[in-house]
Amino acid sequence: MNTIPLIEARAVNFKYENNVQVLFDVNLQVRQGDFVALLAANGSGKTTLIKTLAGLLTPESGQVLVNGKAINGYTQSELYQRVGLVFQNPNDQLFAATVEEDVAFGPRNLNLSEEEVKRRVDEALEILGVSALRKRPIHHASFGEQKRIAIAGVLAMRPSVMILDEPTAGLDPEGELMMVSLLRNLNRKSGMTIILATHSVDTVPMVADRICVLNCGRLVRDGTPHQIFSNLELIRTCRLRLPYVTSLVDDLRRLDGVPANGLPLTVAEARECLLEAFERKPQPCEL
Ligand SMILES: Nc1ncnc2c1ncn2[C@@H]1O[C@H](COP(=O)(O)OP(=O)(O)OP(=O)(O)O)[C@@H](O)[C@H]1O
Ligand SMILES: [Mg+2]
Repeated sequence: MNTIPLIEARAVNFKYENNVQVLFDVNLQVRQGDFVALLAANGSGKTTLIKTLAGLLTPESGQVLVNGKAINGYTQSELYQRVGLVFQNPNDQLFAATVEEDVAFGPRNLNLSEEEVKRRVDEALEILGVSALRKRPIHHASFGEQKRIAIAGVLAMRPSVMILDEPTAGLDPEGELMMVSLLRNLNRKSGMTIILATHSVDTVPMVADRICVLNCGRLVRDGTPHQIFSNLELIRTCRLRLPYVTSLVDDLRRLDGVPANGLPLTVAEARECLLEAFERKPQPCEL
């Protein structure tokens, strides 16, 4: 197994031009196949950190390494093939006239044959479920569709790691579920390494194996979803909350005496936990 992290932040400090420090001594290692969520409240530094990881911002001090090599040692084209960044707002990313031209833009700049470009575009549009939109002007696609087109453009570069900034923000319930399932499949089935910046505590346990919590520019905890959400003090201090389903089971336990054990973080886990509780202590049926 390759033990060199695919991407690594070492003691990263960052200041914007106004001289206000936004990242403080951030250390993070992401390995091949990881699905890491950067979980934090608004303004904590998620976007700043991922822009630093993608080489768009340069740390004041510290280093970002990609495959063990300093990020500034890569050419732009080499970097795009290793680290793919999907912006929160698709408008910041999409610029070509049509959907297929936009998705083809990156691969075409790698001097691939037109055949290979087409193969990659077809594949990426298919995976994102937007093949039917390929001839459409970008601005005739909905916001949710544009988000998927932006991901397709990054995927077509076949990066080793994809970094996504709030990919579910602004999506309707169906769009959000589709996005969650898409990201899960990309990671679990295609082995894509994923870093997801979000504040969505309900979504994160459905996808991430590991959560890194940022608070005011500091990476304060790195652990499994269960380790993170069992630390109520951490959740409170970092202006987060428990997933709704976790709070529901907690209320049932505390207020209604339901003997539910564990810390379910998803609907599936809550169902398992409650079934187990009721099997141990079946409720009399009054009908
Ligand atoms: N270009 C900039 N110049 C100066 N300060 C900035 C700039 N961009 C962001 N900041 C500040 O840096 C801090 C971190 O912002 P950042 O966008 O990284 O947070 P975030 O966790 O992504 O927030 P959100 O959840 O709202 O997207 C904030 O205080 C923000 O005001
Ligand atoms: Mg942000």
